[in-house]
Amino acid sequence: MQKATEPVVSPVSSAQESRGQKPLRIALFGFGTVGSSVARILVESKPPELELTHIFNRNVARKKADWVPSSVTWSEDADAVLATDVDVVVELAGGLDTAGGWVRKALEAGKSVVTANKKLISYQGIDLERLAAARGGHIKYGAAVAGGIPVIPGLEQGLAGDRIERLEGILNGTCNFILSKMEKGEDYATVLAEAQKKGYAEADPTEDVGGFDARAKLSILMRLALRVQVNPDEIVPTPITAITPVDFSYARDLGCTIRQVARARRNNGDLAAAVGPMLVDLRSPMAWSQGTENMVIAGGHYAGDVVFSGHGAGGHPTAVAVVSDLLALAHGSRRVEIPSAPAKIGTEFDVAHYIRFLVRDKPGIVAAITVGLAEEHINIRAIVQKPGYPADALPFVVTVEPCKSSALRRALAKVNEMDCMISPPLDLQMLE
Ligand SMILES: NC(=O)c1ccc[n+]([C@@H]2O[C@H](COP(=O)([O-])OP(=O)(O)OC[C@H]3O[C@@H](n4cnc5c(N)ncnc54)[C@H](OP(=O)(O)O)[C@@H]3O)[C@@H](O)[C@H]2O)c1
Repeated sequence: MQKATEPVVSPVSSAQESRGQKPLRIALFGFGTVGSSVARILVESKPPELELTHIFNRNVARKKADWVPSSVTWSEDADAVLATDVDVVVELAGGLDTAGGWVRKALEAGKSVVTANKKLISYQGIDLERLAAARGGHIKYGAAVAGGIPVIPGLEQGLAGDRIERLEGILNGTCNFILSKMEKGEDYATVLAEAQKKGYAEADPTEDVGGFDARAKLSILMRLALRVQVNPDEIVPTPITAITPVDFSYARDLGCTIRQVARARRNNGDLAAAVGPMLVDLRSPMAWSQGTENMVIAGGHYAGDVVFSGHGAGGHPTAVAVVSDLLALAHGSRRVEIPSAPAKIGTEFDVAHYIRFLVRDKPGIVAAITVGLAEEHINIRAIVQKPGYPADALPFVVTVEPCKSSALRRALAKVNEMDCMISPPLDLQMLE
């Protein structure tokens, strides 16, 4: 691990100082799900510290809403809005390059930025914070992870005094909706179609079900909690697409259910992170989260576990986090500046595993698997085979005692060479 970088400290913006008691002038970039909810809160709640002055969107005519006061300027010219005297640009358009360009321009001009853009923050957050600090502005992104749940301010402020050693989170509402429905007996394709109909999943769901969205969010939380700067691309996610109703049935017999979990832990200087479907104990908080809810557990050295949970997405919950960031800016409140250092991510967890095999049944399969695991010094905890499945496509489960992820990967690679294997063994971490 390299030397920790200095915390990025911004002086109070000169624009804010010179404004005195005047409200912060706010330009909204993007009037979609979250942007329109932010406008709604600003218009309805009328916080005296905040004044919505501009709304920028492409083809803006189709966006205009009669409940937005006539004092607000609608525009489809980003540069023209950036050239005005607005104090804060609220970036809610999404994406990396175009949105990143607006954010940079705003910060270069000494304005502050509030964004919910996890992609931008996970890849460019450090650079943007440095730019903000150099130009006297601030960048806040409390809505970028877990929408309306104040996990980012909670880590930055409430838990800054602890040494967080472990993070576990349900960070993707789409996956949680799908898996918590499959838990009740539905199959993946049916639930995905329902999620798409309800607007919880994109037409191309890869970003969510493939784990890419969750790993971007995990990398942001790792910086604030574990104090490491990591490249999200180094976290190799496992998609939830291989999970079948059979796995939920076996998981239940083991006192567990299945959730997409993003987890990271620091152990002495060693850092490991993973995103994918995992078995969680039915008695654990992770199993309680249903539908599109999110949850984050921060395991602190001094304070123990702290659990954040609630609505991780949706226009209004996410907008609450954005408006809270705006109010914090208006009050000049500065977060605790947390130093962080660049770090490489490993994949080595010492954890129990659930392994589901799908085989053409024949004598000697269990004996061969046992030998393969024993060669890597992995102890079997249980072998479970439910009746009622055909011998030519027989699913059964082996659970193993905590072992190194790399040792299990080697063992399963060998076992997978057996000609009775219909598909590669499904290997899931069991969180205990
Ligand atoms: N929705 C959530 O629950 C949620 C939760 C947490 C974080 N976020 C983050 O919040 C941000 C906004 O999400 P959202 O759900 O509100 O997205 P959205 O509904 O698609 O809204 C984005 C808005 O920005 C406009 N826009 C996009 N690119 C533009 C461009 N190049 N020029 C001008 N206007 C452009 C879109 O216009 P068009 O209508 O023409 O496309 C749309 O009105 C994203 O970064 C997202 O990751 C969302």
